[in-house]
Amino acid sequence: MMPAVTARAHTNIALVKYWGKADTEFILPQTSSLSLTLDQFYTDTTVEFDERLAADEVTLNNQRLSEKASQKVHMFLNLVRQMTAGTSFARVSSTNHVPTAAGLASSASAFAALAGAASKAAGLNLDKPALSRLARRGSGSATRSIYGGFVEWQAGHDDTDSYAVPIAEQVDWPLAVVALVLDPHHKKVSSRQGMQSSVTTSPYYAAWRDVVAQDLAAIKPAIHDHDFQALGEILESNAMRMHALTLSAQPPYTYFNGDTLTAMDAVRELRDQGVPCYYTLDAGPNLKIFCEEPAVPAIKQRFGELFGTDNVIVAHPGPGLKFLA
Ligand code: DP6
Repeated sequence: MMPAVTARAHTNIALVKYWGKADTEFILPQTSSLSLTLDQFYTDTTVEFDERLAADEVTLNNQRLSEKASQKVHMFLNLVRQMTAGTSFARVSSTNHVPTAAGLASSASAFAALAGAASKAAGLNLDKPALSRLARRGSGSATRSIYGGFVEWQAGHDDTDSYAVPIAEQVDWPLAVVALVLDPHHKKVSSRQGMQSSVTTSPYYAAWRDVVAQDLAAIKPAIHDHDFQALGEILESNAMRMHALTLSAQPPYTYFNGDTLTAMDAVRELRDQGVPCYYTLDAGPNLKIFCEEPAVPAIKQRFGELFGTDNVIVAHPGPGLKFLA
């Protein structure tokens, strides 16, 4: 039996989104993307390879997963076994740390933590680019959660050069992200299905690729110069243009619900009142509002009134993958 290894990875929120694959098996993206790792939401995962096991055993938040529910984890462990020529099955135990039962748990922190714990438990000693490439095979957004702070996933051309690079791991800028929990339920269209339908059916997909190239070029100087208005304008328009791909897909669909639109209006009203803040959202209805620290109280107050204070969670820039003793 090999020693158990525990790893912790935090989730990240994309400012310039990944929305489409060039290769679905290797999870190679259509474009590069850029995110901020967050401190509030993370996953701790322990992996132990044990030759006495007859199958992989996967536990999430103290509940044993069915064979079907653990299929993605099993496939991921197969990749690690291939890398080491190992044959043992593994015991995997994972805990999502999310402040409320909020639908904010993510495949990004899950597969980044699993990449770290499983590779080390199998006796591999991967560097960060290799960990990022491995995490990518579980879920695209996990590629970026190997690093803290601002991170770019460089699309690359193949499995060897598609991985994340840190832009600013230590963020010396008092940024906050206010996460709204508008609907904790499971999404109806997974990001995996949703992005594939955008690539194959939206007539706007080619334009999206141009948008991402322009937004990446413009957001890096905004990060470097701590230009909050430029950062905010880019992240908000990038999110809306990503969501335009769902509206323009065939069949069309949306991740927005009524509260999403109410919250978007409230962000614009706060801005009109002189509170600088901008929103983004992923494959679900929950807004994440970017601001600088002095704006946090006004934003908490307004969204607490609208949706209840328990549904407003303040996060800050967070760290990269860590091994726990
Ligand atoms: C909207 O990483 O969940 O959050 O690679 O199929 O597992 P798979 O998709 P996933 O998609 C993330 C989409 C997004 C944007 C982003 O994080 O860049």
